[in-house]
Amino acid sequence: MAKAPKKTKPASTPSSGKVPKKGGAIVAQESGSRNAPIINIGIERQDRAAIAEGLSRVLADTYTLYLTTHNFHWNVTGPHFNSLHAMFMGQYTELWGATDVLAERIRALGHYAPGSYAEFSKISTVPDVPQNPPKAMEMVRILVKGHETVSRIAREFIPVAEEAGDDPTADMLTARCTVHDQTAWMLRSLLED
Ligand SMILES: [Fe+2]
Repeated sequence: MAKAPKKTKPASTPSSGKVPKKGGAIVAQESGSRNAPIINIGIERQDRAAIAEGLSRVLADTYTLYLTTHNFHWNVTGPHFNSLHAMFMGQYTELWGATDVLAERIRALGHYAPGSYAEFSKISTVPDVPQNPPKAMEMVRILVKGHETVSRIAREFIPVAEEAGDDPTADMLTARCTVHDQTAWMLRSLLED
């Protein structure tokens, strides 16, 4: 069950959300223009930055896992070709849709969404696709680990969003955990006797 967000702190209190870093600071780039009104959605500026950084991490990992799954859809071989080819298609389609939702939440919080291989490789925890296509069941094993990794990263940032009173992001990350946990279970079941 989701923890109740703490919405009672004074406006001047700095963000209490601990943002886990990977290999140094991730700086979410704030967007905006002198012509547009200052963003005023009830979430403090520093909290929006912390949440945008978390969402950027989840976006990078989701995109990397998307590409891996699409690669495996193309390159899977063996007696389970038909079922895995179709299963991977369902999974990469879902992941592709999720990248758009995550990126647009970052934009709604007033930051630019990362969207290049250079940025993703810097902040992604999920490893890049293996250069040589693995055997079918090794592909499944890699995807189990990938979904579990994205789930862990998303789960780390739920309290950051909750503490800032950002229910839409907390709900979004919770929904992502549900998908990744379920997909990991389905893939893991293929590896069990
Ligand atoms: Fe296809």
